[in-house]
Amino acid sequence: MSKVKPFKLGFVDFATKDVGKLKNYYTEIMGYKFVEQDNEGKVYLSNGLDHHNIVISPCENNGVQSYGYQLDGQMSLEDVQKQLKAQGIDSSIKRDAKPGLSEFLELTDPAGNLLQLYLKMDEAAIGFGSSGILPFKLGHVAFHAENYAKTIDFYQEVLGFHFTDMIGPNLANFLTCNADHHVINIVKSNQTKLHHIAFQLKDASHHITSADYLVKNGYPILWGPSRHTAGHNIASYHHDPDKNLIELYTDMDIYIPELNIFEPRPWHKELPQKPKQWNSVSSWETEFTNNLGAL
Ligand SMILES: [Fe+2]
Repeated sequence: MSKVKPFKLGFVDFATKDVGKLKNYYTEIMGYKFVEQDNEGKVYLSNGLDHHNIVISPCENNGVQSYGYQLDGQMSLEDVQKQLKAQGIDSSIKRDAKPGLSEFLELTDPAGNLLQLYLKMDEAAIGFGSSGILPFKLGHVAFHAENYAKTIDFYQEVLGFHFTDMIGPNLANFLTCNADHHVINIVKSNQTKLHHIAFQLKDASHHITSADYLVKNGYPILWGPSRHTAGHNIASYHHDPDKNLIELYTDMDIYIPELNIFEPRPWHKELPQKPKQWNSVSSWETEFTNNLGAL
């Protein structure tokens, strides 16, 4: 029997009190391209191919409204819905409900995050931008989760994610649905909210020019660049105008599910490097400042 299989974090839909300010950041600073604004005032931005990777929605609060995951296409949305139902999870199929996605399946994870699962997104096919940071892709999301244990179970048992590492015991759990070390990082909490979202850069040089560009435009670097333990990504963090924490990274571990190891890298202290529990955040022993939220 086929299984529900997301393979990509397709988009993040930000709620914001100030659409213009956030749109300006994701276009002028991050380099995403404007695709369209719908009649509800939602702004759709693309990094080149997909109709949208970032959505900015007018709201009375700031935060994340929903996350979109693309499924591998082995099951119809109706069959996905049936399988979820058999596991006691309600969902609804929405058609012609938003630009770029003719249909998607909407459900809520045990932490309360709204998820939209889809098979196919329209192509914006407008190409990469020519100014701004221009990340390769939206890589992962980290969120504080109430119902922490149930949420981890959900992503593993229902959506087929692999566990790849833990900072812990039981502080942050890293899960993936593709070859990247993590697509989701679930942080134990009694309140569900975004911890950070992360964009992949091309290399260290890109990281440095991005940091220069951010600072020049009034976005100070809050931590890093430093190499993480879990994932070994070189990461730096800053805030977008809504104080959403944004990570830029390179060099993330590549997971090989067939072997349950990561592709060997010169900076790994263990060969083979396997999923494990880490007790610190930086493999360079850089101090991780508290203003990034508890981790
Ligand atoms: Fe991250």
